[in-house]
Amino acid sequence: MTTQRQLKLGAFMRPVSIHTGAWRYPGAYRDANFNFTHLKQFAQTLEKARFDAFFMADHLALLNMPIDALKRSHTATSFEPFTLLSALSQATEYIGLVATASTTYDEPFHIARRFASLDHLSNGRAGWNIVTTANPDAAQNFGLEQAYAHDERYARAREFYDVVTGLWDSWADDAFIRDADSGVYFDPDKLHTLNHQGRYLNVRGPLHIARPVQGWPVIVQAGASEPGRQLAAETAEVIFVAPGTLEEGRKFYADIKRRMLAVGRHPDHLKILPGAFVVVGDTLEDARRIRAHLDSL
Ligand SMILES: Cc1cc2nc3c(=O)[nH]c(=O)nc-3n(C[C@H](O)[C@H](O)[C@H](O)COP(=O)(O)O)c2cc1C
Repeated sequence: MTTQRQLKLGAFMRPVSIHTGAWRYPGAYRDANFNFTHLKQFAQTLEKARFDAFFMADHLALLNMPIDALKRSHTATSFEPFTLLSALSQATEYIGLVATASTTYDEPFHIARRFASLDHLSNGRAGWNIVTTANPDAAQNFGLEQAYAHDERYARAREFYDVVTGLWDSWADDAFIRDADSGVYFDPDKLHTLNHQGRYLNVRGPLHIARPVQGWPVIVQAGASEPGRQLAAETAEVIFVAPGTLEEGRKFYADIKRRMLAVGRHPDHLKILPGAFVVVGDTLEDARRIRAHLDSL
């Protein structure tokens, strides 16, 4: 038997573009961040082009950079991912909807519920980009004086993943019998209470939402550090990566696949998606001219 390998395409959706100057390009959709008509059109176009995923990054504070630089950037503001992706789930049919959610400044019960809801709304198209939120300014938006240290954030993230996936398993797939004759809506033997007590989290459960359509929504990660890679190797099905060179990319790929083997996972159960900034022109020359114009803005 031969296995067919297929390229996976994910769109990193900065609605105006990932390029900081792109909003100034003639004809750019300058207000696309909050213009749902545009966002719907982008998602539908990506779907038609057979993209696998529409990916929404998320930050829990204004980007940490000097205001003179920030004031020039359209990436300073964006929709809250679950709200946007829930709306887009009703305007699309096939494309994966990946939301970013933080394990540092959120609660696993909230996260498990939101992804389970998005998975039901989209009929099994939800994905969770697990981030630990590096921007120290986020701490002050959540009543903390100081951000957690890097490794501490990753230790909590690992436990957080266990709690969220455990909550998704609260109900067996066939728990809801909805037997009108007997009046029994669900089978109590098919309801599981998590009772998690750990180093960072205490969560009893169960989740009061049916098991997600996919069982567990797709797990995505973009960690690059030692604990970031380890979390990805243990939990992720997709990794976003932005290697500086081909050689770096190859080393990263080999390292992740080696780590997966070491924890007993099949290396094919994780796709690595390197980032690319794509400029489309009528000819290569045209694309180069557009790129140069963008960089001059
Ligand atoms: C393509 C890509 C997308 C990312 N999106 C987010 C995001 O939406 N929110 C966020 O807080 N961090 C995001 N990150 C940062 C990563 O989660 C991670 O913190 C970073 O790559 C550094 O790795 P480390 O956390 O292992 O040190 C992204 C990184 C990459 C490469």
